[in-house]
Amino acid sequence: MDDFLSLALQRQSDRAFDASRPVEREKLERILEAARMSPSACNAQPWHFIVVDELELKNKVADATSTRLLGLNHFTKQAPVHIVIVEEKVNLTSGFGGWVKDKNFAWVDIGIAAAHICLAAEDEGLGSCILGWFDEDKMRKLLDIPSGKRILLDVIIGYSTQADRPKKRKETEQVISYNKY
Ligand SMILES: Cc1cc2nc3c(=O)[nH]c(=O)nc-3n(C[C@H](O)[C@H](O)[C@H](O)COP(=O)(O)O)c2cc1C
Repeated sequence: MDDFLSLALQRQSDRAFDASRPVEREKLERILEAARMSPSACNAQPWHFIVVDELELKNKVADATSTRLLGLNHFTKQAPVHIVIVEEKVNLTSGFGGWVKDKNFAWVDIGIAAAHICLAAEDEGLGSCILGWFDEDKMRKLLDIPSGKRILLDVIIGYSTQADRPKKRKETEQVISYNKY
């Protein structure tokens, strides 16, 4: 990929993967390193990334993301890797700042880390999809996550078999203005 805009345009949420093609460990490690280097409010790094790539467990985690009734996330078993992001405590300064300014910095931070994962995956020739819809309790039990902790996102990664589709976005004038709202 030659420039960042092309990478950003190329990335899409992939919902079909080659289940028989594993993600190379070196690629996965580079993606995780990009996530670890993400910015966070007061450098709190309020995250823990659980890489789920053991087949049986990964399939159970995938099951916890899908709801048959609503037809949601039925594709997630195809992805060979799930990166489950657990929210950790922020540090004192981020916590204080978030309280004073009434902002959930940890959730912002984790969103940024998820974006790093997706863009790094794209750069490695891999597809990805961020999942916010899953059964948190089921996931917690499967991955031995302590009961007090929130699981914010599951980012799935693999070799995409999905065709590129055009981006559907609001018009530039609708979302961008200069010097006033
Ligand atoms: C926080 C968040 C949660 C999401 N949850 C899901 C999900 O549970 N299932 C899904 O198929 N896509 C999910 N997506 C993907 C969005 O639907 C997708 O990013 C959006 O439609 C734009 O499409 P694109 O990513 O292909 O550009 C999520 C994206 C974000 C950022």
